[in-house]
Amino acid sequence: MRPGAAEVRHRPLGSTGIDVSVLGLGTVKLGRTEQVRYPRPFRLPDDAAARALLDCAAELGINLLDTAPAYGSSETRLGGLLRGRRHDWVLCTKVGEEFEQGRSRFDFSAGHVRRSVERSLERLATDYLDVVLIHSDGRDLDILDRGEVLETLLSLKEAGWIRAVGMSHKTEAGGRRALALGCDVIMATLSLDDDSESDLIAEAGRRGRGVLVKKALASGRAGVDSLRFAAAQPGVSSVVVGTVDPEHLRANARALEELP
Ligand SMILES: NC(=O)c1ccc[n+]([C@@H]2O[C@H](COP(=O)([O-])OP(=O)(O)OC[C@H]3O[C@@H](n4cnc5c(N)ncnc54)[C@H](OP(=O)(O)O)[C@@H]3O)[C@@H](O)[C@H]2O)c1
Repeated sequence: MRPGAAEVRHRPLGSTGIDVSVLGLGTVKLGRTEQVRYPRPFRLPDDAAARALLDCAAELGINLLDTAPAYGSSETRLGGLLRGRRHDWVLCTKVGEEFEQGRSRFDFSAGHVRRSVERSLERLATDYLDVVLIHSDGRDLDILDRGEVLETLLSLKEAGWIRAVGMSHKTEAGGRRALALGCDVIMATLSLDDDSESDLIAEAGRRGRGVLVKKALASGRAGVDSLRFAAAQPGVSSVVVGTVDPEHLRANARALEELP
């Protein structure tokens, strides 16, 4: 390890039997530049830079990679970059959102969910996915109460294609319904700017569910104290931060090194 480099701890992802690093790496910026809400424009890193980023993450003890079909070429690129070392990583992907020609569309039907999971397995060049989350369009309760998507994910879990299922929700009520319906994992929003889901997150933890946090840096508008705040909240398993900059990754790991 480089002098001064921090190594992040691992925590159980609820009762899934999966351990995740307290800092996860979000990979939107490996695959998509359009329609993202970051303060500065950016370019996709080339393969050498992407490989260096993953090497840096591994060196810091990070094992969790968060991707999605809606993140452009992210899944396909990860599949190539992780060849031969897939088992060192916990791969979290999603279903329901598709991003095509600069626009999102959503499909939560059983047929689409199954095809999407098959396609993620192909793109990520693997025969199992650690976590698959419903990629909500905001209508969390409708999506969950229709039943198809969660039932399909649970049947694919039963078949051994997926180890844990859950939802990246957009509303607190959606997060609560996801827990009530037996999701293993939720992906919640939490930062110093927005702690409105902290009770939900604590409850998820008490119920043995995994909690991944998104937007802990308010998409790049907050500092590392916000990251530390999110990671220290009861119930949080891992804080997923999107970055393509190894120096930012190191700074984020350093900010969390004192945490259990
Ligand atoms: N609906 C969903 O499921 C959903 C929605 C949003 C996010 N997510 C997941 O959560 C991840 C994180 O969310 P997010 O990307 O929206 O927000 P975020 O993690 O709050 O912020 C990411 C932004 O912060 C910047 N950044 C990271 N570390 C930094 C540092 N130390 N100093 C300064 N800037 C820093 C990054 O730029 P640099 O590249 O320059 O570091 C990037 O532009 C995503 O990658 C994705 O995996 C999921």
